Amino acid sequence: MAMKKLFIHLNDKTLSESSLGKLLPLVTTPQVSGGDGLLLAEGCKYLGAYANYHLVLIDDEFLRSLLEASKQGTKLISKHGLEAFAESKWAQYFDLEDALVAYGPAGAGMSLLSQAQMKPLCLDFELLSYRQRLLRGGRQKEAVARAVLSGLEDDTLVFDATAGLGRESMILAHAGAHVMSFERQVPIWLILQDALERAGKSRFFPFTLPKLCPLGTISDYKSALEAPKESSQVWQELLSSLEGRRPEVIYYDPMFPEREKSAQVKKDMFLFQQVIGSDQDTEQFLALACSLARTRVVVKRPSYAEPVRVDGIERSYFVDGGQCRFDCYQC
Ligand SMILES: C[S@@+](CC[C@H](N)C(=O)[O-])C[C@H]1O[C@@H](n2cnc3c(N)ncnc32)[C@H](O)[C@@H]1O
Repeated sequence: MAMKKLFIHLNDKTLSESSLGKLLPLVTTPQVSGGDGLLLAEGCKYLGAYANYHLVLIDDEFLRSLLEASKQGTKLISKHGLEAFAESKWAQYFDLEDALVAYGPAGAGMSLLSQAQMKPLCLDFELLSYRQRLLRGGRQKEAVARAVLSGLEDDTLVFDATAGLGRESMILAHAGAHVMSFERQVPIWLILQDALERAGKSRFFPFTLPKLCPLGTISDYKSALEAPKESSQVWQELLSSLEGRRPEVIYYDPMFPEREKSAQVKKDMFLFQQVIGSDQDTEQFLALACSLARTRVVVKRPSYAEPVRVDGIERSYFVDGGQCRFDCYQC
């Protein structure tokens, strides 16, 4: 898989360094090859790599140059096409899929450098629309809460295996679950971590918020459960904070390929989709989730899509969510 670059700019030290502190133990430092010369440029500090991202910390001046390159590069692409961009000086700064996470007073925002005209994607759980959904929802009204929590007590341990922008993790936590959220894409993990930290200080959320696990997947948790000494310290710490428990329910909402090209997809979702793409390992993850959950696995699917099928694993029932469906697999 081609490596992309994620530029990270910190300007509120306390907030963002705590996020980075949790991230860095998982980052490896591969040899930086010649083609990645930019990673060693002035104003950049190479932090290492995770999955398909090289992580680069940048200073104020480099941020300014990068934003200018992003603005001019995006203009060139839309007027004269990709070739003109590739030959321009702006191409020294970034490749088309590179992303930026910058921390401002209102929190962390994520942008794609080839989309300078779009506002960064920021997460703010305090937004009124968001809080209203929480207040109007609840355990009976939200289909996801009915599917995940039916018949289970408050404080049931639920793994949200695909945290994304954290909306459903919040709904499940508000409905009384003890939610641990997993996310494997670094830019998304960073903005979610930051939004949850801010929500933790807000007066609007008088319930136990979801906790974001170390960057990674439920597979990392399962490996730690099976061989604690072989896993990294952050997973060992998580395992001991949960007293080595398996979750009662695993909720799984992978990215589904878009049916129509995104004319009406909201801007936030467009950026999100550009960074994530579609998840290709759904069958494999369903099988893994079924081997880890104690009671059930719930998979979200568009209402037009077939249930995920894996040998030996059958959907038991589903909960209708309007445009989507929650397929439940009893373990
Ligand atoms: C469709 S979004 C989830 C949206 C989420 N339910 C919400 O309410 O915002 C899927 C997210 O899960 C992440 N993801 C997909 N498969 C994953 C896996 N196996 N482990 C961890 N994260 C995963 C993707 O990177 C993406 O951010």
